[in-house]
Amino acid sequence: MTFVDSGIQPTRRPKRENASPAPTARAQTALSHPGFDAAFIREAIRELKPVYARVERVIPPLEWAAHAPYIKAIRDLKRERNAVILAHNYMTPEIFHGVGDILGDSLQLAKEASKTDADVIVQCGVHFMAETSKLLNPDKTVLIPDPDAGCSLAASVTPEDVRALRAAYPGVPVVTYVNTSAAVKAECDICCTSANAVKVVESLGAPRVLLIPDEYLARYVATQTKVEVIAWKGRCEVHERFTGEQLRRYRDSEPGIKIIAHPECPPDVIEEADYTGSTNGMIKWVKDHQPGRVVLVTECSMADNVAVEAPKTEFTRPCNLCPYMKRISLPKILDSLVFMKEEVKVDPEIAARARVAVERMVNLAA
Ligand code: 13P
Ligand code: SF4
Repeated sequence: MTFVDSGIQPTRRPKRENASPAPTARAQTALSHPGFDAAFIREAIRELKPVYARVERVIPPLEWAAHAPYIKAIRDLKRERNAVILAHNYMTPEIFHGVGDILGDSLQLAKEASKTDADVIVQCGVHFMAETSKLLNPDKTVLIPDPDAGCSLAASVTPEDVRALRAAYPGVPVVTYVNTSAAVKAECDICCTSANAVKVVESLGAPRVLLIPDEYLARYVATQTKVEVIAWKGRCEVHERFTGEQLRRYRDSEPGIKIIAHPECPPDVIEEADYTGSTNGMIKWVKDHQPGRVVLVTECSMADNVAVEAPKTEFTRPCNLCPYMKRISLPKILDSLVFMKEEVKVDPEIAARARVAVERMVNLAA
């Protein structure tokens, strides 16, 4: 295994993707949902009793009473619009278990998005995920409840950066993590997710591969393969905050605790982990092993979603929230379906090239 820093400087400073002021979004929501009447709220709570029975371990009754009318309204409207909701594992439990139809990690959502016969896809996740759904479903309407749901990794690399890398490493294939814009994917040979990165890198049959933009994912993949992995300097602002020291403190204070980590974490965190994998991989590990106590070293909401299905396991929760994922809320999802917004569009010429990279990955994973 060899890991190499590409040495190429970004063409511009990575800038946090977008940010429309929160009050505007809140004001919009207040305008479109002045409130549900008491009869509708009672009906929602009655109708959703079986759903609440699944999530009561993680959502207190008062909070559920506030969510229930939104969940009912969204479920009703989904049927009317022939819409399907794709919910990433980092969504809060009222979204994930309350309105999500297709649940999973980036790879699963990308694969399932290409199979749905719904007319409308509502992406409860971040913008690059919605773009991926649009690439695989060019004739469907793809909506994202908040277009400002970005990602620090996606913001860390531009198409110009990829062209500079190709010039510096002629002939070396470029693998892009799915956490990138469609414009960046269009410059690359194949896409990967954290679930299949090693398989994708090895599928190319090349001695050296550029794997962008996540430096830590590249470092992790380099430990799992003989292929030389050349990296970019992108980071996930949520996972880079975890430290090995923090995890050693958990082990000292809670003997027997299992530590499972996402490969976007720094190497000293991965070294401490009992298992490293994608969000779906982490969920499967918990279900298969049913540990007495576990810490999921990843975005905070995932522990709530897994706790619903792993009643024998106690979760230690280092609460690192992804500010982009947390922009998605029930009121915004309802707005999205009421007003059919925000529609995700990708320039057709970019989409045609980016689709090749995504489809290569999906076909490999099939
Ligand atoms: P997964 O592909 O593991 O779901 O990860 C996506 C992501 O954004 C992690 O931060
Ligand atoms: Fe991006 Fe990190 Fe948020 Fe995942 S958790 S969407 S990688 S910022």
